[in-house]
Amino acid sequence: MKRPVFDLSDKDVRNSIPEGPWVLLTPSYKTGNENNDTLPEPVKRFLREPAVRRKMIGIMGSGNRNFGAHYQAAARQIAKASGRPMLFEFELQGTQWDVEDARAILEQLDQEVAKAHGE
Ligand SMILES: Cc1cc2nc3c(=O)[nH]c(=O)nc-3n(C[C@H](O)[C@H](O)[C@H](O)COP(=O)(O)O)c2cc1C
Repeated sequence: MKRPVFDLSDKDVRNSIPEGPWVLLTPSYKTGNENNDTLPEPVKRFLREPAVRRKMIGIMGSGNRNFGAHYQAAARQIAKASGRPMLFEFELQGTQWDVEDARAILEQLDQEVAKAHGE
């Protein structure tokens, strides 16, 4: 199955509401300002809409361990605030094994969603 992917840097995507269950993939960007969080602005804007948040069923994060305590801070913060599971974490663009793992996790999730809908 080809999985639809939507880019939140696209304003039209940001202003839309997912039709069904969806998974967020976000990087973390520490700005240097201690009081500023690591959430990318497009992600923050998209999640402002309650209907969008309701349909989010999990989070994946891309990060860089060099950021120490802030590693995966955005993804983890969203997971905590939303009560949705942190499905997968990888560094930078991920390795080919990360890609395989992420794909397997999403396929498993597809099956669980289908089961929950009685399919
Ligand atoms: C300015 C900057 C700040 C970053 N801050 C964090 C951070 O706080 N935590 C983290 O885990 N990764 C951090 N990263 C790593 C990015 O999350 C990582 O590079 C990104 O997930 C990979 O995608 P990209 O190649 O499109 O940047 C930062 C990267 C940059 C360039």
